[in-house]
Amino acid sequence: MVLQIPANRFHLQELTSADPMKTLVNDVRAGLLASPRSLPPKYFYNDEGSRLFNEICETKDYYPTRTEFALFNEHADEIINTVQARTYVELGAGASTKTEVLLSKLNINLDTYITIDVCQEILVDTANRLLNTHPNLQIKSLIGEYLPALQALPVLEHPALYIFIGSSIGNFTEQESIELLSEVSRKMNSSDYFLLGLDRVKDKSILESAYDDEEGVTAKFNLNVLQVLNDKLGSNFNLNYFLHQAIYNEQDEQIEMYLKSKKSQTIDLSLLNETIRLQKDERILTEISRKYTKTSIQRMLLNSGLKEVLHFEPINQYFSLVLAKRV
Ligand code: TRP
Repeated sequence: MVLQIPANRFHLQELTSADPMKTLVNDVRAGLLASPRSLPPKYFYNDEGSRLFNEICETKDYYPTRTEFALFNEHADEIINTVQARTYVELGAGASTKTEVLLSKLNINLDTYITIDVCQEILVDTANRLLNTHPNLQIKSLIGEYLPALQALPVLEHPALYIFIGSSIGNFTEQESIELLSEVSRKMNSSDYFLLGLDRVKDKSILESAYDDEEGVTAKFNLNVLQVLNDKLGSNFNLNYFLHQAIYNEQDEQIEMYLKSKKSQTIDLSLLNETIRLQKDERILTEISRKYTKTSIQRMLLNSGLKEVLHFEPINQYFSLVLAKRV
């Protein structure tokens, strides 16, 4: 694909962490070599991972994308008219499919759309697409993690709309999510809004199918994190020796995603000078996805200095789209 991005309308900034290799090594040490074993979710999203994630969103079993998309279509006008934003700032923007619904219906001029994501390729592809269809839009893309990106935000035109959808907030622990939302709230001024998408508590079998789809795309996505480690750390994970597992923990109201060792095996983490011995059936936690009730949403917002202004949900209450302001 030929990039046709007009240079004056697109700005790309890479937030280089001081030493990404060192961060990876520390993360792997703190997670994989610990007990119980885990890996941070950000390593899912290399080019292949981002492609697979978009494929997950299209599967029959993964209802959140479809449900949230319908909420966007249904309530776009009310959101747009309430917010009257000059700037959009989206955390984990990815392909911007849902935000594009807002962009397409805007009746006032949005100056700038700031997209934040760890995957450069998807940011560039998306900017290319949106700049062609929205001739007055400026896009600034920040490649990096949420907190450093929030710190590196340029001066914004207000009102601004901060966007964090796809229930990505659920991939953080309660404490981490309050830290992140509090940081957004500190960035906001009194005219700004925050649009948050959250998946709701529901029947265990529906939740577990959503994270273990019949087509096997989520399994591929989960296993791909081992390929990322092989590519970056020279480790020798054999993806055939692991099984994808998604369990809904009703007590903690969260999906837990694991990679389960099919046999007892030893893995060489070449660049770390370490080996790990996995027992048969031993698991690595790769992701949590927390599920919310109306009450737990209110609590999290209040603990983060935010208050709900509008709350949209479908009749089956599968998902919430919440518009909030600073307290
Ligand atoms: N934010 C998405 C969610 O929690 C991310 C996600 C969907 C995901 N499916 C996944 C993460 C599978 C890891 C594995 O629903």
